[in-house]
Formats: sequence, C-alpha cells, structure tokens
Amino acid sequence: MVSVTVMRPLRVGFVGAGFIARFQLVAMQQVRGLELTGVTAPRGAPELAALARKLGVGEALVHDSVTEMANHVDCVAILAPNFARIEVMEELVAAVRAGAELKGVICEKPLGRNVDEARRLVDMARSADLRTAYFENQIFMKPIRTQMAQLAPVQRKMGPLSLSRSAEEHGGPHEGWFWDPTQQGGGVLCDMGCHSIAVGRHVLTPQGKGITFLQPQSVSAEVALLKWGQPYWRQKLLADRGVDYAKVPAEDFATGMITYKNPETGQKVKAQFTNSWMYEKQGLRLFMDGVGPGYAFEVNTLASPLSIFIGDAAAEAVQDAESALEKATASRGLLAVQYNEADLYGYTDEIADARDAFGAGRDALLPWSYGLETARLVMAAYMSAEKKRVIDLTDTAVLAELETYVPLIQQGRGADQLL
Ligand SMILES: NC(=O)c1ccc[n+]([C@@H]2O[C@H](COP(=O)([O-])OP(=O)(O)OC[C@H]3O[C@@H](n4cnc5c(N)ncnc54)[C@H](O)[C@@H]3O)[C@@H](O)[C@H]2O)c1
Repeated sequence: MVSVTVMRPLRVGFVGAGFIARFQLVAMQQVRGLELTGVTAPRGAPELAALARKLGVGEALVHDSVTEMANHVDCVAILAPNFARIEVMEELVAAVRAGAELKGVICEKPLGRNVDEARRLVDMARSADLRTAYFENQIFMKPIRTQMAQLAPVQRKMGPLSLSRSAEEHGGPHEGWFWDPTQQGGGVLCDMGCHSIAVGRHVLTPQGKGITFLQPQSVSAEVALLKWGQPYWRQKLLADRGVDYAKVPAEDFATGMITYKNPETGQKVKAQFTNSWMYEKQGLRLFMDGVGPGYAFEVNTLASPLSIFIGDAAAEAVQDAESALEKATASRGLLAVQYNEADLYGYTDEIADARDAFGAGRDALLPWSYGLETARLVMAAYMSAEKKRVIDLTDTAVLAELETYVPLIQQGRGADQLL
C-alpha cells in the first residue's frame, strides 16, 4: 500500500484589507497550498473575508487584533499602510514571545519609510526567529522571468546586460495616506521607485548569481512636482484626498540612475528608473527594458493582446473601467485590457514563493534584508535629489549618514525643494 502524506495548506492571515489585500486574494485563487484563514484591519475586514469565501480561497475569520490572529495562522502578511509597519510588527513579536507559532511573516513594499525603519523591522523579525518574505512583485513578473530564461544561453555566450531602464507610472494613488509624505514616506519615489529600482537591479544581475550580487556604487536622482502642485490639481487633491500640497508637498515624478559593480569582473552597469503619478495614459504602465551585447528585451504592460473599443454612444454603459486595468483613467476609446493582472504583475508567483519558503522553514527569495537594501537605495535617491549631487555608495561616511537619513519631503518639509 502506498502511504501519502497530505500537506495542510499554509494558513495565511492578512493585516490590512484594502487594495493590495484584494489583489492578493485574486492571486491566491491561482495558487494551491495556501488559504486565507484570518484578517484584521480597522476598515474592510468583513468584506475581505466575504470575498475570500466567494473566491474559494479560505474561510477567513475576522480578528480584533494582530495578537489574536497570530494564534490562528501559520503566516502573517503585513498589507497595512506604510506608517503602521512598526506597530504591527511589535505586536506580532510580542505574540510570538507569548507562544504564537508562526512560520513566517510577509511585508509589502516598501519595507520601511527610511533605512532606520526598515532595519528595525529586520531586527524585530530576527529577534522573534521569523522567516521573512519582502513582497516586491515585479521581480516575479512572468515576462521578466521568461526573458531571463530565454536569454540565459545568449547571456552565457555574450555576457550580462549592461543597461536596464524601468518605470512604473500611473495617474496617482487611490487613498489619501499615499499622498501624505509624512504617512507614506514621500511621494512616488518612495511608493513606486522601490519597485523600479529593485527590478532594474534584478535584470542586470548575471544569471545564477544572488539577488544582491551587484554592488551599488552611486546614485543620482531628481524629483519634481510636475502636475499635482499646479493650482487646479492642488485644489482637487485637497478636496478629494484631504492633502494640501501647498503646505506639505510630495514629488509626483522621480527619475535617476544607479551604477552597480560586478564584484567578479569589475564591470560597471547602469540601471535607470522613472516613476510618476502624473502619467496621462490609459492606466498603470510597467515598462522595463534591458540592453546587452548583441541582445535586448522589453516589457510594456500597456501592450496587451486584448484591446476593446468603446464609442461615445456606448460609454454610459461602462460599469467599472478599473476592472479592465489598474488605475484606469478612461472608459471610452481604444482601451487596453489585462485579464489577469494579479498574475501579470507577479503577485501569484511571489506568494507561491513565500508558501514554498515558509513550508521549508527558510526565507523567501527576497527576505526582509533585501527590502532593507532597497530602502537604502531609495533613500540615497532622495538624498541625491535633495543635495543635488551624486551619492557615493562606496563611501562609509555616506552609508553611515543614510542609516538615520529622513528626507525633507518625508518630514513634511519638502516645500522649498518642490514648489
Ligand atoms: N506591490 C504592489 O504593487 C502594491 C500595490 C498597492 C499597495 N501596496 C502596498 O500595500 C500596502 C497597503 O496598501 P493598500 O493600497 O492596500 O492600502 P489601502 O489604504 O487600500 O488599505 C489599507 C488597509 O490597511 C488597514 N489599516 C490601516 N491602518 C492599519 C493598522 N494600523 N493596522 C492594521 N491595518 C491597518 C486599512 O483599514 C485597510 O484595510 C502599502 O504598504 C502599499 O505600499 C503594494
């Protein structure tokens, strides 16, 4: 007789029940071996639990606190706003000390609003002996992974990519706290620069090498407030989101260049990033490309195999443009439709990676220490923009300064820089 060991699905608990929590549920629907069994949040928890049941991804209980939930799940995913990371993690560590048996903890990007916060989170996870997963979905995007697999033999023969360009752009985030630099950590550079910086570094990394193989050498960056500081848009932001960019502005555009060194060959490679909240096209666009000797790749998520056309006469019948595309800005004309955004953007593969890692008692592909490294690069970009100079990441004095650096914009003092 053949004996079969039946693995119990990983029981996941969500802290936060907003936009990304809903996206992750759609991802979980496509991944076996995990289920949502708990959720806690000041807003939206019952609705999220109901959605989980509807999608068949788990009989989630709504808990009053992180502490209570920690005793009923195997793994906790922190999907709460950036300003809540430390308090959530403090409660989680206390729950583990009091006996909660957690295999691991997931945290959405960015790990912290600055290096100090990110380091505190890494230290807290270590102190509770928790395995970690930093959710940077773009590294898991199937187009990114597929180009790497397809180009692996070419790269072995010709050498790695030497230039990458990555962008994430849309018309602006969906909740007021994102716009408030003191709560979110800044503007678009903190919110989406972390994505583009991470994926830009990843595609340049020679295949088979670790995720932090390439050594950051220098960062130069600029930030600007190009749209949402203008009187009409500033008023609209104040009315719609309760955030006053005349007093506490954040950047809606950021661009920069990071130079990395291959420690084995000494070769220098460059990753350019661009992020905006003032992108006036159909909706969210992720763009990545890379150029190597004799080969290249390009990803553009606004180029979908599916487009639809809605004329003026039919436009009133459109129910929800955002079901076609995240951050959709138009509901008529020729529109791109992405029919599986959760998979396209890498959410399915990042949560499958966390499931495998925690099941095996190890960190995910991207542990929190990787989130800390990315936070350092983002802060170096803010520092470059603030000081109007190239930041030398090989200088130990600069690295020490970055440990406690809080950008003026994040402090709510960005008016002189941005207006
Ligand atoms: N990977 C991505 O592409 C991506 C996309 C969107 C958001 N995010 C990240 O996910 C996180 C959440 O973003 P969102 O868009 O879901 O925000 P949201 O505002 O839509 O939802 C936030 C949820 O957290 C809850 N919450 C608020 N304060 C809390 C606290 N102190 N403790 C516990 N829960 C609390 C809210 O009630 C709400 O349910 C952010 O860190 C954001 O950067 C990542």
